Amino acid sequence: MAGYTVSFLPNEIEINCDSGTNLLELAADAGVEIKAVCGGAGSCGKCQVIVKEGKVNKLDQGILSPDKLEQGYVLACKAEVISDVVIEVPPESRLSKHQILLDDDMGDGEYLTEEDLNIDDRVELSPLYQRLELELNEPSLVDNASDLERLYTEINRDRNLPDLKTPLPVLKELASHLREYDWETGVSLAAVNGNYEVAELSAPDDENSDYGIAVDIGTTTLALNLVDLSTGKTVAMEGAYNKQANYGDDVIGRINFVKENDGGLERLHQSIIKSINELIENAATKQGIEHSDIKTAVFAGNTTMAHLFLGIDPNNIRLDPYIPTLNFIPPVRANELGINIKEESWVYCLPGVASFVGGDITSGVLATELSKQDKITLFIDIGTNGELVLGNQDWLMTCSCSAGPAFEGGGIEYGMRAMTGAIELFDIDEETYEMKYSTIDDAPPIGVCGSGLINLIAILNEVGIINRSGKFDSELEHERLRDRDYEKEFVLVPKEEAGIDKDIVITENDIKNLLRSKGAIYAGIRMMLRNMSLTEDFIEQVLVAGGFGNYINLDDAKKIGLLPDLPADKFKFVGNTSLKGAKISLLSKDAFDRVEEIAKKMTYLELSAEDQSQDFMDEFVSAQFIPHTDLSLFPSVT
Ligand code: FES
Repeated sequence: MAGYTVSFLPNEIEINCDSGTNLLELAADAGVEIKAVCGGAGSCGKCQVIVKEGKVNKLDQGILSPDKLEQGYVLACKAEVISDVVIEVPPESRLSKHQILLDDDMGDGEYLTEEDLNIDDRVELSPLYQRLELELNEPSLVDNASDLERLYTEINRDRNLPDLKTPLPVLKELASHLREYDWETGVSLAAVNGNYEVAELSAPDDENSDYGIAVDIGTTTLALNLVDLSTGKTVAMEGAYNKQANYGDDVIGRINFVKENDGGLERLHQSIIKSINELIENAATKQGIEHSDIKTAVFAGNTTMAHLFLGIDPNNIRLDPYIPTLNFIPPVRANELGINIKEESWVYCLPGVASFVGGDITSGVLATELSKQDKITLFIDIGTNGELVLGNQDWLMTCSCSAGPAFEGGGIEYGMRAMTGAIELFDIDEETYEMKYSTIDDAPPIGVCGSGLINLIAILNEVGIINRSGKFDSELEHERLRDRDYEKEFVLVPKEEAGIDKDIVITENDIKNLLRSKGAIYAGIRMMLRNMSLTEDFIEQVLVAGGFGNYINLDDAKKIGLLPDLPADKFKFVGNTSLKGAKISLLSKDAFDRVEEIAKKMTYLELSAEDQSQDFMDEFVSAQFIPHTDLSLFPSVT
C-alpha cells in the first residue's frame, strides 16, 4: 500500500499513513481532536473537515449538503486517505480547551470546599502504599528465625497483619539488603485484596517521598492529582480531555464503536491509557520526580470507562438486562495495563454498583459522606448520562436515568462542551428579542454549552418565544424565527457575529432533545422518591456533582424543571467528587474499604425493569414540559 502524508491545519500536524486509512481515526492517532458525537457512524455531522489539497475517498457523505460538498467539506469519519492531503479542521469541529475540575477549582457560587467536606480531618493518613522504618533484631544462634520471619515480626509489632505476602523479587534481595543496612530498613507495604504485601525495601535513611495518583476517568475529561503519600498533600494537578471522545461522545457511542470496529476495544483501551500516561508525565515533570517514584494509583470512573480502562468489552452494559462484567474490580499491576508508574505497582479501581452506576458515583458518595448524613440527601451527577443517589446513613438508592449527552452538546445542532467560544449565558430584550451573550474566554461564539442551553430554554420560555412544550409560538413573527425543513429555528447569533461561517441557531428538535434529557433526570428523581414513598419536600439537601453541575445556574435549572424546586440553601455544588473520593481512598485504606461497603449498601433501581418502566415512562412524559405538567411541583418558578 502506498504511504501518504496528511497535514492537519491549523495546527500543522503531519502524519503518515497507508492508503485507505480512515481520516477520523488518523486524526486521533495524530492527536488532532475532532468532535465525533456519534462515534464515526456518519449520523451526527460534527466531524466535518475541509479538504484543502489532495483527495480523499468519500464514503457515505449523505448528511452534508451539496453546498458543503462543493466547498470541500467531508465527514472525517466517512473519508479515506488516497493521496497526500491537507485537511483543515474548522473551529466548530475542534475539541479544544475544556473546563476540567481538577480538585479545588470549584467555579463561582456557593460550593462545598475540601474544608467543608473535612477531607483532611477525616482522612487518617494510612495510604494504600505506605513506608515503615524498622529496626530488626540481629539473628544469633539462639534467635535463628529466618530473615522473612524476622521482618514480619517487626512489621507486626504495632499492627496486626497476619497474612503478609512478599513477592519473589523482594525475597531475592531481602538477605543482602538487611545485612547491608545492619538490620535497619525501610519497608513499603501495599494493600492488596484485603491483605498487605511487602512491595519494596529501601535504605533506612531514604528521605525520598513516595507518590500516588488519584484519577477521575470521565467520559469527557480526565483529572489527575499527584499526591505525596507521606503528607497526603496534592503536589500537582493535571487535566485533559478524554481522547476516547474521538470515537464517540457518550458511553453508548463508545460501546458502539467497540462493537462495530475490529480492534475497537483495544483502540479505546490504548486511547485512555495513553491519555492517562500523558497526565502522569506532565505531573511528574512538574514535581521533578521519576515515574518510578509513583508507587500506586486509584481510579474512579463510570462502569463503561472502567471496562475500557481495563480493556474489557463493555457491550453487555447497554443490552437488556444491562450487566457489566464486574462491579468490584480487583487490583491490577500497573505494567499489565501499561500505566507508566513504578512497575509492578498496584492499580485500584473504585467499585461500581450495577449497570451504568459505577465507581465515580460510589467515589462521590464517599467524598460527600452521604452514607453518614442524617439528612435525606439527593446526589446528582449530570454528565453524559445522569446518575442519581438518594438516601442517608440508613439507606441509599441509586439509578441511572439515560439523560443522554444533550447537556454536553450532543444531539444539539450548535451544542458543544464548555470550552473556548461556547456561549454560557444569554440575555434577551423582551420587546425586540435582540440577544446578548457571553462566551467562555470571551471568544467569538461557535456554539452553546450545557449551562448556556439551560439558560436559553429558561429565557425563551420566560419571554414567550417557546411555550411549555418547547414549541415556538406559532403566532410569533420575527426575523430571527424562521422555517427550515420540517421545523422552525431561532437565530441566536447571526453569522456576522459568530466565530463560524454560519448563523448559530436553536431548532425545535434541539429543544425537544433538551427537554427529553432534563425530563429523564427529573423522572429519575421522582422514581426514587416514589419507591421510598417520599415527595420532594422530604429532600433535605441536594448535592450537585461533576463538571457540568459546577457551572449551571440554579434558578435556570429549576425554571426548566431539571432540578427540584427547593430553596437555594438546600443545594450544594460539590465539584469533582469522583476525583476527591479517589484521592481519599488513595490516602486511607479504611476509606478505600468503605467505598466497597457503600457499593454493597446501595440499592440499584433499574428504571426499565417491568415493575418500574410504566411509572418511569409516565414520569418521563410529564417531565418533558417546562417546568413540568404538574405545576404544583414548581411553585416558586411558575
Ligand atoms: Fe462523523 Fe458523527 S458524523 S463522527
